[in-house]
Amino acid sequence: AQREHIEALLASLTWEEKLAQIQITFKMTQEECLDAARSGIGALFWPGNAADTNAVQRVAVEETAHGIPLLIGLDVIHGQRTTFPTPLAMGASFSAAAAQSCAAVSAAEARSGGVTWTFSPMVDVSRDPRWGRVAEGFGEDPLLTAELGAAMVSGYQHERLDEPGTMAATAKHFIGYGAAEGGRDYNTVDMSAQRLHSVYLPPFAACVQAGVGSVMASFNTFNGRPVHASRRLLTGVLKDELGFTGAIVGDASGVENLIPHGVAANLPDAARMSLAAGLDVEMGGHLHDPAARPEHPALLDGDDPALAARVDDAVRRVLALKLALGLFENPYVDPAAEITAPTTEHLAAARAAAEKCPVLLTNDGALPIAPTARRILLAGPAATHTDHLGAWVQHFAAPPAQSLADALTAALAARAADADTPAPELTVLGGQDPLGVTEAEVAEVAAAAADADLVILALDEPSQLTGEATSRADLHLPGDQAALVHAVAATGTPLAVVLVAGRPLVVEDWIEEPGAVLMAWHLGTTAPEVIADILTGTVNPSGRLPMGFPRHSGQLPATYDAHENTGRPATRGGEMIKPAFDMGLDGPANLQEFFTSKYRDLELGPRFRFGHGLSYTGFTYRDAELNRATITLAELNAGQAVEVTATVANTGERDGEDVVLLFTRDVLASLAPAVRRLAGFQRVAVPAGGSAQVTFRLERSHLALWDDDGQGWRVEPGDFEIRLGPDPAAEPLLLTVTD
Ligand code: IFM
Repeated sequence: AQREHIEALLASLTWEEKLAQIQITFKMTQEECLDAARSGIGALFWPGNAADTNAVQRVAVEETAHGIPLLIGLDVIHGQRTTFPTPLAMGASFSAAAAQSCAAVSAAEARSGGVTWTFSPMVDVSRDPRWGRVAEGFGEDPLLTAELGAAMVSGYQHERLDEPGTMAATAKHFIGYGAAEGGRDYNTVDMSAQRLHSVYLPPFAACVQAGVGSVMASFNTFNGRPVHASRRLLTGVLKDELGFTGAIVGDASGVENLIPHGVAANLPDAARMSLAAGLDVEMGGHLHDPAARPEHPALLDGDDPALAARVDDAVRRVLALKLALGLFENPYVDPAAEITAPTTEHLAAARAAAEKCPVLLTNDGALPIAPTARRILLAGPAATHTDHLGAWVQHFAAPPAQSLADALTAALAARAADADTPAPELTVLGGQDPLGVTEAEVAEVAAAAADADLVILALDEPSQLTGEATSRADLHLPGDQAALVHAVAATGTPLAVVLVAGRPLVVEDWIEEPGAVLMAWHLGTTAPEVIADILTGTVNPSGRLPMGFPRHSGQLPATYDAHENTGRPATRGGEMIKPAFDMGLDGPANLQEFFTSKYRDLELGPRFRFGHGLSYTGFTYRDAELNRATITLAELNAGQAVEVTATVANTGERDGEDVVLLFTRDVLASLAPAVRRLAGFQRVAVPAGGSAQVTFRLERSHLALWDDDGQGWRVEPGDFEIRLGPDPAAEPLLLTVTD
């Protein structure tokens, strides 16, 4: 019936009406939105509330020839009214359930206001934190990105898109956008088919598998051709190879950008190229534009049968999405039921997710704040600001967070009340400009620090420095905030640093000075409460880095070991050889160590690698074993798996959650295998002194490599090392795959 409905509608549309359907247009005012709806446009950005959305839908349904409802799009990336942690922070939770709950709450809130289409999740694997958009994705690992991305798709779309409180999701940006050269946004991407398939495609494949309604094309060129004009990628890889049946939407102005890319001479050429490549929806306003071309709104004519067939295919995909969303039965929302502010339930979900994300980078015992610390100084730009929501927030829709100073005051008072003791004295010296802390401010903080029992410095990468078009060449904290660390450390007062930041930073100049460093990310609406609860020990930190902290921007990309080894690795038995700068000008005595892949002026590897994260308690893994030591290729191909089990023991005195990571290493293969590859992760709650069992399934996909020899994914017989936890030197279990 759905098919017939679509075909009947399609047959009734004129060429111009078809072009209007495959377009999403930005309009600034409600009047412009109403005009666009009257012109038969297929999709609009959200006009701002339920009543206005209903008004434009009413025009589309009641005042246009065919009464086709609109898709209403918006970048609902990590919340609409209730802001969850940024996706990168969510990556640190290693919790698909948290990602799913973020998407489900976002969809409930946004759909109640009439939004039916979100441009999320961003599943671009990103290995270069200079790229500001790393904040919008789940970090550097394909498996983590795939699992969290697919979880968000199910959160947005539920089992069926026509259920209440859903939105169509968009997996973006297809493809390779996160691999922009130099980490510079919109820059060139050049990559082998092997890397494309093994690193960048799996998250998109997972989202397609999860039924994602749309996929957004990326701005970048890929091996010379802009993705918006690449038939091989959009049709060949996405639609044919991955089997994507939804609609491919362009990025904003992505079609017209083919002109400055230098592959299209003019707009009609650009549009023809994109449509022929497989793009289904133009984001912008050119295909059908009655304002610019009152007499002939259509940019192209429909004489070319191949183009006409392609446009029909695109219109079918758009109509199918509208039908799946149930918009033909009910295009309206109930303004009385619009969620216009975070609800208690949604805030609880956001807080539960946010508690899993902060990563304790270092700790010599400075955290949690000891009850004996009676005079506490909280200072730094992030002490009093409310900039915790992060990149890609609709500020007109989402209320700000409170400040850390307010939340810490409350948390310290609550802890003291519980213990029936007076609350410690909290002095707050915030308000510094994160882009320019002054010498006077540094001196003021240092003077106050000298009188304190403990200093908490809340340092800041403003959210405006993260997200789209915010690549940074220098990843140090901006505004010489390091001077605050140096000055406080010089007083000898114990110091803990909280980093409120959107991406991994270079922290080499100060990281050894504080007793503890907590990476707090941009955690959303409940950020200050969660940070305060971690500082006071009410919440035990459990996040792990979804992306390493480099030592230097010159070292990038400094991914964890999920890259192939070189023929001259600067490691011996999994251990780094030694800092290259120790070698002296004449080189080392050991030539084998000299001629290795390294920088001579930088210690090897990232400062904090993927998976790093401490807890206030301790975890060890015991009795790790495989349920079988060998498996045949035929068994793997038939879907059989090897089980890895282990006991996670909490050796400390606090309850805690641990994220257990599972890595594989193909010892010998026909292609240089990855040094290590993430094959699974599990979050477990373990009470103090207690233990929990984890079981992982190792399947074909975890052991296969992708070869550009026409065979695609295959497992090669041989030995695989299996390790638990982030430590690459951990004792491995051995699995043998036989012929
Ligand atoms: O969805 C975004 C995309 O990620 C970047 N360019 C603009 C789009 C729509 O706002």
